[in-house]
Amino acid sequence: MNLEVVILAAGQGTRMRSSLPKVLHPIAGKPMLSHVTEAARTLSPKAIHVVLRPGSDAIKKALGEGLNWVEQTEQLGTAHAVAQAMSSVAEDSTVLVLFGDVPLVSTQTIARCAEHAARGALSLVTANLSDPAELGRIVRKDGRITRIVEFKDASADIRLIREINSGILAAPRALLEKFFANMSNDNAQGEFYLTDIVAHAIADGRTVEGVFAASEIEVTGVNNRAQLAEVERAYQKIQANRLMLSGVTIADPMRLDIRGEVTTGTDVFIDINVVLSGVVQLGDNVHVGPGSVISNSKLGNGVRVEPNTVIDGAIIGARCVLGPFARLRPGTELGEGVRIGNFVETKKTRMGPGSKANHLAYLGDAEIGSESNIGAGTITCNYDGSPIKKKTTIGDRVFVGSNSTLVAPIQIDDDAFVAAGSAVTSRIEAGDLAVARSKQRNIKGWTPPYRRHRQ
Ligand code: UD1
Ligand code: CA
Repeated sequence: MNLEVVILAAGQGTRMRSSLPKVLHPIAGKPMLSHVTEAARTLSPKAIHVVLRPGSDAIKKALGEGLNWVEQTEQLGTAHAVAQAMSSVAEDSTVLVLFGDVPLVSTQTIARCAEHAARGALSLVTANLSDPAELGRIVRKDGRITRIVEFKDASADIRLIREINSGILAAPRALLEKFFANMSNDNAQGEFYLTDIVAHAIADGRTVEGVFAASEIEVTGVNNRAQLAEVERAYQKIQANRLMLSGVTIADPMRLDIRGEVTTGTDVFIDINVVLSGVVQLGDNVHVGPGSVISNSKLGNGVRVEPNTVIDGAIIGARCVLGPFARLRPGTELGEGVRIGNFVETKKTRMGPGSKANHLAYLGDAEIGSESNIGAGTITCNYDGSPIKKKTTIGDRVFVGSNSTLVAPIQIDDDAFVAAGSAVTSRIEAGDLAVARSKQRNIKGWTPPYRRHRQ
């Protein structure tokens, strides 16, 4: 099939009341329009043309390569919009029209729509809705589609029809060309309606095929932020279902948000209010506690994420326990069985198997061996004002006492000890104890100043 796709996205989107173009508003963290282009790409079309209003640089920049941008200088209607793309569409092609603000259209539905058109028909995606609102109505006679009537042009009788036009259609290029040469804007909105092509196709002796959308959400258009939220929730529900059917337990599918691609092992548990974004891999038996946010990270088998933990750009070894209230930043790599406790922040830090930082620490640009213990309140001082961060190297089985300040660059060798409260500024060799704090001095029988006047 010589398929070319035309995506309409030149509408103003006024009802979003936003400075961001409508089609860039995200669904599951990705611009609405990207959902549409990705659906189109699954059909392997020869080209994808996107019709935009002038000055849509933000859209071009966000969507990137591989699309042919077509400008519609004035928004004179959906037919006029498609007509702008025709000069770049090849002669003998089949044209599929999608809307940039109907983001959840399924690939099966548009594939079926395109197949009818490849056989010479005009093909429309329709749906029966309980509340068809102000959408265009599909008029049938003896079961065959005879025309589409826009809500604003519809009589009371026609408004009772519940089969609606999704706007998505496919046609041979030749049919579109012929229609564009004869179209008119003599209607309630003074616009060139693409929907008028139905009557034209019939007059031209073409068959008109309707393809029912598999679900209502597929054809739901986004015109305002309430519809945006509706489509978002529907999409999240679909994703949660997919995970549950693949063996993941989700405490509440309506309180999980996936903004990217998640792969999971067996018997994963995800508690409420979790956000997963980017590429996230969860191994077997991973447990994700409530309120946790995981982005672009890989969690090994049996990892336990306690509540309210933020993990970004990290590789977590099997059976690590993280949080509650921990923050693992990009470049964190933890070996097996590492423990990162509450109010611990890690960044560009590697920790070997069995090492622990259980409470209140900052570990940045650090290389830590295995079985080492980082005491509460330990800080790696990696920043001295210059942009180049300084490194902290800690060996195996090192014991860093509580409230230690490790001034980088610094090296602490295997089996070394750091006394609590130390400010460490020079290397500690293997097995040594560093005590780097002022010595305690006790003053006998001390009377505080506020009591002295009584004497
Ligand atoms: C259109 C259909 C209607 C259908 C509905 C489904 C027509 C005449 N009507 O109505 O039957 O039920 O969609 O959502 O086609 N656009 C342009 N340039 C324009 C006008 C529109 O690019 O000059 C784009 C918009 O950005 C949008 C799409 O086309 O993505 C639909 O336009 P819109 O004005 O929302 O059409 P509706 O009145 O909703
Ligand atoms: Ca619309």
